[in-house]
Amino acid sequence: MKIMHVDASAKRERSNSRALSRYFLERLREQHVDLDIDYLDVTVDTPPHVTEAFAIATYTPADQRTDAMKATLASSDALCERLLAADALVFAMPMYNWSMPSAFKAFIDSVTRTNLTYVFTDDGHTAGQLGRQKVLFITSRGADLRAGSPYAAMDALTPALKAAFGFLGVADPTFVDAQPLQFADPEARTEALERAHAELDAVAVEWAKSSSSVETNDEVMTACQE
Ligand SMILES: Cc1cc2nc3c(=O)[nH]c(=O)nc-3n(C[C@H](O)[C@H](O)[C@H](O)COP(=O)(O)O)c2cc1C
Repeated sequence: MKIMHVDASAKRERSNSRALSRYFLERLREQHVDLDIDYLDVTVDTPPHVTEAFAIATYTPADQRTDAMKATLASSDALCERLLAADALVFAMPMYNWSMPSAFKAFIDSVTRTNLTYVFTDDGHTAGQLGRQKVLFITSRGADLRAGSPYAAMDALTPALKAAFGFLGVADPTFVDAQPLQFADPEARTEALERAHAELDAVAVEWAKSSSSVETNDEVMTACQE
């Protein structure tokens, strides 16, 4: 299974979201899923923020782009190819000020591209091109934003991720949200991490099952063609 794994926390060894994404991939390996990981740390290789040149180039039809426009879009083109080549996407990030880290927003701005990650259909609608990929969002939050908590209505992260990736064709992403962490007492924090680990265990089992059924189907197809 080719997985694009993206981390977005400003923290490194102390980061909960990074630890959780590593934990998930370890659980998948334990399930004997053959992994081919394409790793991106958006805090190190941060996609460029949208510039005027990008805003013009991206909406200029491909056959009318100048060499300068093509150069402007080159890194975004490459990132789109990496996304499209993956079978699954694992995005790990903290909540910052109720939404996503700015480096991950820059990533979204880089990979939302006409005729690459979404196309216009004959009836004038758009069709996202990431419908094939499984998608897991692992988020870490200092506060508790679960339903019923006073902060629940402040969650601008989940809807923003759902909207941005829904537009790209991701209809049913999985969310594992570790909360409350930083702003909770040690007991609540431990419980939050235990809940997240248990949810990630279950997602790993589910992904392993579907990956083995895809491999079985591939083997049957190959056998039929021989
Ligand atoms: C700049 C900044 C802003 C934050 N904003 C929020 C927030 O709006 N809501 C929240 O619940 N936690 C917030 N937190 C706490 C982090 O989401 C929390 O500590 C999370 O576990 C960090 O993930 P990490 O360990 O992977 O970096 C913020 C932390 C930082 C550093």
